[in-house]
Amino acid sequence: MSTDVRPGIGKIGAGVARVNFAGVSKAFDGTLAVDDLSLEVHDGELLVLLGPSGCGKTTALRMVAGLEDPTGGTVSIGTTVVNDVEPKDRDVAMVFQSYALYPHMTLRKNIEFPLRQQRVPAEERARRADEAAATLGLGDLLDRKPGQLSGGQRQRVALARAIVRDPKVFLMDEPLSNLDATLRIQTRADIVSLQRRLGTTTIYVTHDQVEAMTMGHRIAVMKDGMLQQVAAPQDLYERPANTFVASFLGSPGMNLLPATVVDGALEVDGVGIVLRGAPLRIADGPVTVGVRPESASLTATGIAASVTLVEQLGAETHVICTLVDGTRVVVRQGRKAVRPDLGEAVAIELDPDYLHFFDAATGDRLADDR
Ligand SMILES: Nc1ncnc2c1ncn2[C@@H]1O[C@H](COP(=O)(O)OP(=O)(O)OP(=O)(O)O)[C@@H](O)[C@H]1O
Ligand SMILES: [Mg+2]
Repeated sequence: MSTDVRPGIGKIGAGVARVNFAGVSKAFDGTLAVDDLSLEVHDGELLVLLGPSGCGKTTALRMVAGLEDPTGGTVSIGTTVVNDVEPKDRDVAMVFQSYALYPHMTLRKNIEFPLRQQRVPAEERARRADEAAATLGLGDLLDRKPGQLSGGQRQRVALARAIVRDPKVFLMDEPLSNLDATLRIQTRADIVSLQRRLGTTTIYVTHDQVEAMTMGHRIAVMKDGMLQQVAAPQDLYERPANTFVASFLGSPGMNLLPATVVDGALEVDGVGIVLRGAPLRIADGPVTVGVRPESASLTATGIAASVTLVEQLGAETHVICTLVDGTRVVVRQGRKAVRPDLGEAVAIELDPDYLHFFDAATGDRLADDR
């Protein structure tokens, strides 16, 4: 990876900046916040840690920063096990949800602050702060104080303060959650282009799956402290390892329908589903079928359902249906589709090319290798 575009170049060429979790656990009295996490973040990668509130994302990140000690396993940065390395010696920069800027200092002083702590000489401090500010489009604002900035600008100052240090690793914990929707999308793009340009290994925590899909080279999905799957965004979307990942990703998530396999044929709610190709190679009995909203449609014949809600989003419409057995199925319609009425009796067809199969008991993905 080229390092010549990095601001304040110097120490990094020294070693690869991968981050490795090897069987890492963190127990707070009674709660296992992170449970036997094994995960390697590659050098130069932006890895998103994704999962619902309380699943252990922040705890995992704080163990890399040295703000929490693992109760088991080892955390490495580069080739060094850092369990016993002081936070200040880990060469990581963390960006939090709250910007935590010093209100009485100008932006320049805020951005330079970590360099002052490292006793970098004034001239070099100024040069590196200028570079970092320019990188984030803050060049004209350096004499202002945080109170004179918008939320998005403040978050960019927090980012500038992180990059000015030229750390081995960026750790970002939901840095966009205080921003409004428009600013979030813009700052999200800014962070992605910055990360791709600097090539700094980054762990980015979010519970927002759209953020995860758009930002990550790979996404690691967590639930209850446990890693569920780690894969590139599109792979995660197309081959979720279990029903949790399937329903967490996508907006709305994948529909999960109880079904039955009979002699290699599939029945949902007593209705035979026409499959293309060979019969299913799944044992007879109950199975969970997954289908994304865009792979379900309303047709004349199919699985009987009634319409419980119609959500119009402009470019598309989500028709929320309820099957006879009470299962909820969301159908995504394009602009041209005829919208059904509330309460209308409809029939749902599933696109046989885009079905997923999961173990009805464990929720684990079943191979469909027909
Ligand atoms: N200092 C602490 N003492 C006790 N329990 C804690 C502590 N910090 C976190 N926990 C618990 O550990 C679990 C994981 O918390 P963590 O903050 O890592 O979750 P998270 O995935 O970041 O959630 P969120 O999306 O809400 O920020 C939670 O059950 C939480 O209550
Ligand atoms: Mg958190």
